[in-house]
Amino acid sequence: MEQQKRYGHFDDQHREYVITDPQTPWPWINYLGNEDFFSLISNTAGGYSFYKDAKFRRITRYRYNNVPMDNGGRYFYIKDGDTVWNPGWKPCKTPLDFYECRHGMSYTRVTGRKNGVEASVLFFVPLKKWAEVQKLTLTNQSNEVKNLKLFSFEEWCLWNAATDMENFQRNFSTGEVEIEGSTIYHKTEYRERRNHYAFYHVNTPIQGFDTDRETFVGLYNEFADPQVVMEGKPRNSHAHGWSPIASHYIEVTLQPGESKNFVFLLGYIENEQDKKFSAPQVINKDKAHALIAELDTTQKVDQAFAELCQYWDALLNIYNVRTGNDKLDRMVNIWNQYQCMVTFNFSRSASFFESGIGRGMGFRDSNQDLVGFVHQIPSRARQRIIDIASTQFPDGGCYHQYQPLTKRGNNDIGGGFNDDPCWLIFGTVAYIKETGDFSILDEMVPFDNQPGSEVTLFEHLKISMDHVINNLGPHMLPLIGRADWNDCLNLNCFSWDPNESFQTTENVSEGTKAESLMIAGLFVVTGKDYVALCQKLGKTQEAERMQKAIDAMIEAVKKHGWDGEWYLRAYDFYGNKIGSNECDEAKIFIESQGWCTMAEIGAQEGMVAKSLDSCKKYLECEHGMVLNNPAFTKYIYEYGEISSYPEGYKENAGIFCHNNPWVIIGECLAGRGNDAWSHYAKILPSYVEEKYQTLHKVEPYVNCQMVAGKDAFKPGEGKNSWLTGTAAWMWYTVSEFILGIKPDYDGIRIDPCLPETATDYTVSRKFRDAEYEITIHPNGAQKGVKAITLDGQKVDGTVIPYSAGKHVVEVTM
Ligand code: BGC
Ligand code: NOJ
Repeated sequence: MEQQKRYGHFDDQHREYVITDPQTPWPWINYLGNEDFFSLISNTAGGYSFYKDAKFRRITRYRYNNVPMDNGGRYFYIKDGDTVWNPGWKPCKTPLDFYECRHGMSYTRVTGRKNGVEASVLFFVPLKKWAEVQKLTLTNQSNEVKNLKLFSFEEWCLWNAATDMENFQRNFSTGEVEIEGSTIYHKTEYRERRNHYAFYHVNTPIQGFDTDRETFVGLYNEFADPQVVMEGKPRNSHAHGWSPIASHYIEVTLQPGESKNFVFLLGYIENEQDKKFSAPQVINKDKAHALIAELDTTQKVDQAFAELCQYWDALLNIYNVRTGNDKLDRMVNIWNQYQCMVTFNFSRSASFFESGIGRGMGFRDSNQDLVGFVHQIPSRARQRIIDIASTQFPDGGCYHQYQPLTKRGNNDIGGGFNDDPCWLIFGTVAYIKETGDFSILDEMVPFDNQPGSEVTLFEHLKISMDHVINNLGPHMLPLIGRADWNDCLNLNCFSWDPNESFQTTENVSEGTKAESLMIAGLFVVTGKDYVALCQKLGKTQEAERMQKAIDAMIEAVKKHGWDGEWYLRAYDFYGNKIGSNECDEAKIFIESQGWCTMAEIGAQEGMVAKSLDSCKKYLECEHGMVLNNPAFTKYIYEYGEISSYPEGYKENAGIFCHNNPWVIIGECLAGRGNDAWSHYAKILPSYVEEKYQTLHKVEPYVNCQMVAGKDAFKPGEGKNSWLTGTAAWMWYTVSEFILGIKPDYDGIRIDPCLPETATDYTVSRKFRDAEYEITIHPNGAQKGVKAITLDGQKVDGTVIPYSAGKHVVEVTM
């Protein structure tokens, strides 16, 4: 393998990834904000901000998939004599004397140097504030006095990111702004039904401004050479319609060695209906003034930044491992947990591959994301579970997605994805095991958000299980519906019309027989959890009822779901096998291997071991395990979208990182630590970053949804970074199954599964009101705990019983 160019490196001490070349193979981004106000920011400061919902409350504009790439963002133009440059290199692309971007935990710092001037910008969203702070520090590192002209730039989005991109006949007439001192207010549509506005402020007097894009940029200029900046003269333009922007103009004189700070603030405000205006047509700015006053000095901003850093310290101190392997430690302790938080916040809505307008929050996605996050802020996980369950229907089915702003089910996509209900159990059980809070089960939760329809959350779990039982096919296996976890296995779609959606079209569904082995495995895994929960609650009859259904499902899988060397994937509409040696292509799929081995179906009969071996033999390649093998080479009408993708990409034999962990957990349960580890390391970003920065293309500090598989034109190329269930599954796998620290109702279960080369390691784990310092001595074993002591006392079994306070645990394997 040729030595690949490197664009950056990890700085574990600061929990940062340091990018040293702005021309990364793809924009490498970060996320700012933790609860309501969010921003996406690339390594050149491209990106945008929104309040809660990337579709309905987009604050600034961004141009997806544009030429040049990564166009639109928060740009600072520095005019030093005839040279105009930006700290993040773009958009002017003036060669810099020094460039560095540090992506950290909810902040990004971009630094550029040119001709003896350094400009360093710290971007972050303070906790609990609806604003993005941009703290710009300008330093004169030369021996002469510098007279600089500084222009800021943000472009307003007219709130609804979808109509902003298409309804020009209206948009070009609605834009409105107000200017007051050093603050530019964006108030489009405020006169009518909106009670929110945004502002862009700087904490210093300005010598000019612009708010009209055409005036600032020039109709035939670009972000790279805005006419106002090139001329070095603001025009004090006042936008009416067209495209409103916000640009401050500041003249800065710096003595040799002198440094100056500027705090720019991009804020969002909501007013009560009767307090919207302070005078006819004039917005009430009280709340904006108050917000500005909270962040108008360097000191206040530094304080807010320190609080943000403490917040992350606390979050990352809940689970911390020291193995001595930097690559593992940095993923477990920093980046995997960070990605889980981002995924929990954004679901699949806004990344550089998700435009923020396509999808809301997924039912199955959010339940899985929760598992990566529940140990950090359980109260938010609790709320999320209630929100999700509120979009369920009385028969246990549910909306596939909901909008975060309204928390209502999304009618465009509807329901009918038959794996969805099971995930509610997966999420809820994880929550209770982490917190011990059984009271969530008594919460009254509506159906489809209809007031008056409330039943307990436990009832929601019950009907979720029942939804599977009530929808079985001819082999007594679960009917797949529109699709299961694999959104692209559309067995009732039958579409020859390119204008139809694979996800929502069911040209035939009457009399369907299409059944899913993935749901069968999922049902057994979550069913076992459900049964254990019922037993815990003393609901013995319900536990027995469900155990029978599980046993029947296990029998059905053994009888109709085994192909000889691996588990089948599905039966199609006509009852034909999918994922069988009898098929021409796609003889084996990963999902059913993952779920049926996690469910340990047929372990005694050798099915689990054979299935895991088949994964190694047929699915594994240099970059991970592919989804199916061999790839589909042609479109198959009765299979749908899966066969629409070229070979090796996405759901057609891509390495869908999300489901590699399923097989890894299967390996762990089977005690095959060497195999589990080798699968895991292949998709662990820190290992990939070392070898494949150029090939992999996307951010080396997080997992991406998909890496091109062995049948692809370019195996190893990554796509769809950041927002993927991979984050939570990687976390769940490494924290609970490989390192073996698993929360349970009454304590922490310790059951690692390691490569035989593993050496002693220590995990610090905060759990409810306790703190455990757990040291594991593997002694060359892959699996099997021999002895545990808790504070020097021998423990029977593998669960350390919970009790508040600090504890020391020693584990011998
Ligand atoms: C993608 C899936 C995605 C689905 C729903 C498909 O095109 O391949 O990964 O889940 O769309 O948006
Ligand atoms: C991405 C979707 O968000 C997820 O719900 C789905 O399971 C996978 N794609 C696989 O299709």
